[in-house]
Amino acid sequence: MPVERLRIGVLCSGRGSNLQAILDAARDPSYPARVAVVISDNPHAYAIQRAREHGVPAELILPASFPDRIQHDLAVAQRLEEHGVGLVALAGYMRIVSPQFIRRFPGRIMNIHPALLPSFPGLHAQKQAVLYGVKVSGVTVHLVDEGVDTGPIILQVPVMVADEDTEESLSARILEHEHRAYPDAIRLFAEGRIRIDGRRVYTKRS
Ligand code: GRF
Repeated sequence: MPVERLRIGVLCSGRGSNLQAILDAARDPSYPARVAVVISDNPHAYAIQRAREHGVPAELILPASFPDRIQHDLAVAQRLEEHGVGLVALAGYMRIVSPQFIRRFPGRIMNIHPALLPSFPGLHAQKQAVLYGVKVSGVTVHLVDEGVDTGPIILQVPVMVADEDTEESLSARILEHEHRAYPDAIRLFAEGRIRIDGRRVYTKRS
């Protein structure tokens, strides 16, 4: 009997290139997870099209249809549960999820951030890195807690910053690494190779 793969719900607001990387990784039947649903808050998100082209259900849940942020989050949580997701992956989701949402998926929400946290949290991380003048930036995949980009770190990949880098050139280089890092982190989670102890995430070797 084939083993049921971990079902992921991916939340996206835009381009969806990280979603694409996850969809591509999951094409391999030996990859231990698959995308069960994509949910977006933005009707213009290209991510929706990517999901549909892949035959994955994509749902639009508009914040404007709800009285407040929490009600919107709870509607998203309900759809994720209805799709039986065991992991929620934020991939360019331009909303801060509420504590009420986080409590529905304890230890089961991941985010990818285009900098080496705790440096440069929040928006425009690549621009922050260029303006600050760091020589190394990178990618962080972390679990989501109630802060902004503060949760326990699963993995990080360093990316060198060159003198001639601009926000655009650095973003493009970091993005290439994001597309490997996110599927890698999801694999670790899906294979049960992650153990969390406070802020520290320990990874069992395969
Ligand atoms: C990525 O840089 C990701 O790290 C950040 O938002 C961007 C989303 O890009 N959280 P995409 O929609 O996955 O192409």
